[in-house]
Amino acid sequence: MDSLTGKIALITGASRGIGKEIAIELSKLGAEVFINYSSSDEKAEEVVNLIKNSGGKAHKLKFDVSKEDAVSKAFEEIIKINGSIDILVNNAGITRDGLLMRMKSEQWDDVLNTNLKGVFLCTKYASKFMMKKRSGNIINISSIVGLIGNPGQANYSAAKAGVIGFTKSCAKEFASRGITVNAIAPGFIETDMTQKLNTEDIIKSIPLGKLGNTKQIASLVAFLVSSDSGNYITGQTISVDGGMSI
Ligand SMILES: NC(=O)c1ccc[n+]([C@@H]2O[C@H](COP(=O)([O-])OP(=O)(O)OC[C@H]3O[C@@H](n4cnc5c(N)ncnc54)[C@H](OP(=O)(O)O)[C@@H]3O)[C@@H](O)[C@H]2O)c1
Repeated sequence: MDSLTGKIALITGASRGIGKEIAIELSKLGAEVFINYSSSDEKAEEVVNLIKNSGGKAHKLKFDVSKEDAVSKAFEEIIKINGSIDILVNNAGITRDGLLMRMKSEQWDDVLNTNLKGVFLCTKYASKFMMKKRSGNIINISSIVGLIGNPGQANYSAAKAGVIGFTKSCAKEFASRGITVNAIAPGFIETDMTQKLNTEDIIKSIPLGKLGNTKQIASLVAFLVSSDSGNYITGQTISVDGGMSI
């Protein structure tokens, strides 16, 4: 893998789980990372300290990815500190599960706003700077549920399927400017998001017979943004799901 020294990366939802691991992985390769989150100040501070204590460069950046004013201000902040951005990982995501007949508009709006509108807003602001530089990598964290659906997750699967279509359109729009856009579709990864689930039943549905971990997602992100082969991949959705989507 090539060094990311001198590269600036924003990882949304990086105070915990998959985003935290991606931030650590990219910083190990030399990137200066911005740790976005919405409420967990202490956890975000811990990630920043962890990275700084290992000799990396990290900043906390609290903003709600679904609010355009907040996103715009956050990008002003990044540009003020570094002048540009090279890598965007749209990872922030939430669930508000429920069967469709009982799903409230609020549950629908919350999930679509964070998981899909947030990806649109961050990509819009980041791509402005990447276009000028004629280079950049955008990774969108979708989900297996966006590919195969899941009862009780109509809102979440619609948002995650939307992310896949969005990824393909942006890849086509940005390719002539040297910017790659890819999606990753994780299966069941051990994080706070999956803690409440009955893992015994889930494991039975995974051909490889075990849950995934955050490192497996982070190392794929690292490959996509820091290798020559990775930089020739665009518009793809890569499943990391133990075979669940076969
Ligand atoms: N875990 C899985 O099995 C799995 C599978 C497929 C896809 N995914 C996707 O992978 C991504 C990460 O999942 P995870 O399991 O690591 O989740 P997680 O542990 O619940 O962490 C979610 C992160 O997103 C942040 N966040 C939530 N809403 C936000 C908003 N409006 N603005 C900014 N940040 C926000 C949270 O910040 P706070 O800490 O401040 O709340 C936190 O850092 C999500 O997009 C999820 O849908 C996960």
